[in-house]
Amino acid sequence: MKLLVCGGAGFIGSNFVRQRVMEHGDEIVVLDKLTYAGRRENLAGLPHDFHHGAIEDPAAVAAAIEGVDAVVNFAAETHVDRSIAEPDAFVQTHAIGTWVLLEAAKDRGLRYLQVSTDEVYGSIEEGSFTEDSPLRPSSPYSATKTGADLLVQSYAHTYGMETVICRGSNNYGTHQYPEKLIPLMILNAMHGDPLPVYGDGMQVRNWIHATDFAAAIGHVLEHGVAGEVYNAGGPDECPNLEVIERIIELTGADRSLIEYVEDRPGHDRRYSLSSDKVRALGWEPRVRFAQGLEQTVAWYRDNSAWWSPIRSGDYREYYARQYGRALGA
Ligand code: NAD
Ligand code: TYD
Repeated sequence: MKLLVCGGAGFIGSNFVRQRVMEHGDEIVVLDKLTYAGRRENLAGLPHDFHHGAIEDPAAVAAAIEGVDAVVNFAAETHVDRSIAEPDAFVQTHAIGTWVLLEAAKDRGLRYLQVSTDEVYGSIEEGSFTEDSPLRPSSPYSATKTGADLLVQSYAHTYGMETVICRGSNNYGTHQYPEKLIPLMILNAMHGDPLPVYGDGMQVRNWIHATDFAAAIGHVLEHGVAGEVYNAGGPDECPNLEVIERIIELTGADRSLIEYVEDRPGHDRRYSLSSDKVRALGWEPRVRFAQGLEQTVAWYRDNSAWWSPIRSGDYREYYARQYGRALGA
């Protein structure tokens, strides 16, 4: 297949491109705006045709989409804390960008996969969300992602477009920008910086390794029924504090680095996905959290060339704004 992968220079997008090139021999075109989170280095060594542009720009989309068999849309603003501080780009990319991409795919009769999140369902104290659970997003991030999902479904319903949606739980793995819990805690622990725990730290996330989510997306792209939604959750759940304690152990950091800070406004308590529907397509997660976390810590330990430019650049300003203190040297 020849795939247009929007947002392919980001964390999960680049893991997906790696898998499709190495394991499926696909031809890849990447369209990416290269925001703070998008990096060409993430695609190093992988054959692909790269277009630098935004999904909300019809000319950039038209140039990239020519000759492809399907569109996979990862392009998004992805950090909840940033969406609370500055929601503008979230509305622009998720609403306008998704609409522009859908129009281009519809005009060319292309299959379209929207990469989405468990956060569209909101928080769940017990049990797991299925694809039929009500949509109750809580943050500007999840609300705009929900809007994009609804737009995608309207194109299937109204125009008979061949769309599928794949909703993942919290991802971790290599090449994740260190604003998210796991890479932030790994790098802070390695540098002896405080480990900022929001609220009581007992919020629970359902962790999926990025290679497992990438494989689920590939399965849904190839075998998913048009118009349908598929959840892909990881095999393990873990409270944040336990994730941080495991990272402390794996990095050999001092437990006294843990620092309780003010909670995130509107913080979702727990996410959990039932993945029975995508499992019925033949997918299952392969990486258990304990093993995946150990590999992830090792990757960050061995790849300072990847994170050094981030940790010494604009990220420092973001960190100081978000946490009210400077990052150590
Ligand atoms: P990321 O922030 O690492 O990467 C996003 C990529 O999209 C970057 O390369 C960025 O440059 C690009 N981008 C942003 N706005 C763009 C625009 N307007 N036009 C073109 N490119 C643009 O994100 P990620 O964690 O890899 O997430 C990828 C997708 O997976 C997102 O749709 C996200 O909602 C979804 N998702 C993420 C998680 C997670 O835990 N990270 C979980 C479930 C679903
Ligand atoms: P995050 O990685 O931002 O993903 P999401 O909010 O999309 O689930 O956060 C994961 C969990 O970790 C969430 O409950 C918030 C918490 N968290 C902290 O306690 N401290 C931090 O510095 C960060 C970034 C997150």
